Amino acid sequence: MNQPTPPYIPRIRDPATPIVVAIDGPAAAGKSSTARWVAERLGFYHIDSGALYRAATAAVLRACGAQQWNEPDVLTAAQRVSARDERRSFVLLVDGVELEQEMRGGAVTQNVSRVAQMRGVRDWVNAQVRSLATGRSVVVDGRDIGTVVFPDAHLKIFLIADPWERARRRLIQRLGRSPADQQIAEETERLVQRDARDSTQTVQAKDAVLIDTTYLTQEEQVERIVALVKVLKGGHGRTTPDKA
Ligand code: DC
Repeated sequence: MNQPTPPYIPRIRDPATPIVVAIDGPAAAGKSSTARWVAERLGFYHIDSGALYRAATAAVLRACGAQQWNEPDVLTAAQRVSARDERRSFVLLVDGVELEQEMRGGAVTQNVSRVAQMRGVRDWVNAQVRSLATGRSVVVDGRDIGTVVFPDAHLKIFLIADPWERARRRLIQRLGRSPADQQIAEETERLVQRDARDSTQTVQAKDAVLIDTTYLTQEEQVERIVALVKVLKGGHGRTTPDKA
């Protein structure tokens, strides 16, 4: 009965501790753009784990085509991915070449769930993410960051939004204008199918802070997470820790 309630956000006492913020959630919930912005606000690095799966998929498609793959071939292709440190983020390269457009294109989006389901690929991506994060404060986004990659992350966020709203945002990003309802309905169906394909990987940690962004602007989401990190660092709006 008299047990103290554990803090909602644990405090970090040593200001030199590198901080790990994990942002997980389903496709098109705004994880990567939010993570990038939060990292910029805090001077942390941003690591987009989905981009590693996408880069590996681009490498596999180039090496093996889209037909039958076996895991060793996929792993060999994934080893051709490297990361270049650029302005507190990482640009991914396949054989030393930037493939950003290809990584975001239809063929990779269609095939990436297949690649991401392979145990060896997941182990490889997780090792890359942990290595990129070593010794630095990071905001890492993905599906299983707070559960598998960094189960001890200092702050875990799980971002969700209504599928219709996620589809609408994705189309605005793609088309640069407001989509018609019919287009949103079709995109919603594709998103829900992708959610189903990625469902085993997408796990909300028990200690994650759930943020439903359906009715939030991106700035509001970012401010919320930045405020939580400030609490973690020791106080409301302060960036130095409390005296123990
Ligand atoms: O977030 P995204 O759409 O760029 O992710 C691409 C794919 O990678 C998607 O199919 C889910 C998968 N993924 C994953 O399985 N685990 C992660 N930590 C990140 C992404």
